[in-house]
Amino acid sequence: MAAIKEVTVKELNPQEFIKDKAEEISRAVGSGIAINALSGGVDSSVVTMLGHKALGDRLKTYFIDNGIMREGEPQQIASVFKKLGVNVEIVNAQDEFFNALKGIIDPEEKREAITQTFYKKVFGNLVKKSEAKYLLQGTILTDVDETIAGIKRQHNVFEQLGIDPQQAFGYKIIEPLVQLRKDGVRKVAEALALPSSIYNRMPFPGPALSARVIGEATSERIAVVRKATSIVEEELASTKAFQYMAILHQDRATGMRQGKRDFGMQIEVRCWDSIDARQARPTRLGFDVLDKLASRITSEVPGVVSVTYNITTKPPSTMEAV
Ligand code: XMP
Repeated sequence: MAAIKEVTVKELNPQEFIKDKAEEISRAVGSGIAINALSGGVDSSVVTMLGHKALGDRLKTYFIDNGIMREGEPQQIASVFKKLGVNVEIVNAQDEFFNALKGIIDPEEKREAITQTFYKKVFGNLVKKSEAKYLLQGTILTDVDETIAGIKRQHNVFEQLGIDPQQAFGYKIIEPLVQLRKDGVRKVAEALALPSSIYNRMPFPGPALSARVIGEATSERIAVVRKATSIVEEELASTKAFQYMAILHQDRATGMRQGKRDFGMQIEVRCWDSIDARQARPTRLGFDVLDKLASRITSEVPGVVSVTYNITTKPPSTMEAV
């Protein structure tokens, strides 16, 4: 397998990149059909626009509602893309994902369950239904690096692990962004005239909120972290930090409510300063901001009695908890 040649943000000419990649997609797919899954993150949004440039209606774009996305996310993203002239079909796959996650505690097993559900089950069915032979996806170089290094199995990396998607899942995968890192992808997004709400959008991992639940990701526990996430995103939006998130811990802690013992849940807040996600530092949030987070999370998310702020850098931490 040939090494991937990085295109740094300095070397990148976005217009040329767009032209070259649209041609490459066109050539690869020929007169056939391709599908792609849009999550609304900058990577999958750029791939959607490149694919539409290259294939028009022969690219079928789906939003996979896996039950582990943030509040209102599927409808919100579909409506942003409708305005851009791209029809996005929302596919309800919540049961498939929660069934696959049932009883799983180990982080890598959880990631593997998500991967198999996406690629074998959900995309497998969509490929059959649409008669597509190709899946376009927004894997970037950082995903590949971290997977090869064995740090975290990113949900979208196969070839570099010696997995042939054609053999494993029955379709080919095209990865137009694999030479770029996040800063480069943002530049291309801007050049594609995507709205700034997309190209400045915070990264969000493929395994979605299940990467932010330590221990079993049941629909109830996902609902807890989803609510805490909405609060953290509201309160920290003005920081312009690279990424901020809420994490639900598995351990409980003794708290008190109305004078009674409450053995409740613990939420950890993380807020990262970073350029390309390879290294990161915790943002130096003011104590007033932290106070407000603690007070809102413990009063608005039922069952949470403890809120902490992560002060570790990456490395040795990683950005997501799972
Ligand atoms: P970590 O947790 O590895 O995260 O320090 C680095 C960046 O990658 C995002 N992330 C993912 N993105 N698929 C993705 O597309 C994944 O499986 C995945 N896991 C982590 C994370 O949100 C951060 O921006």
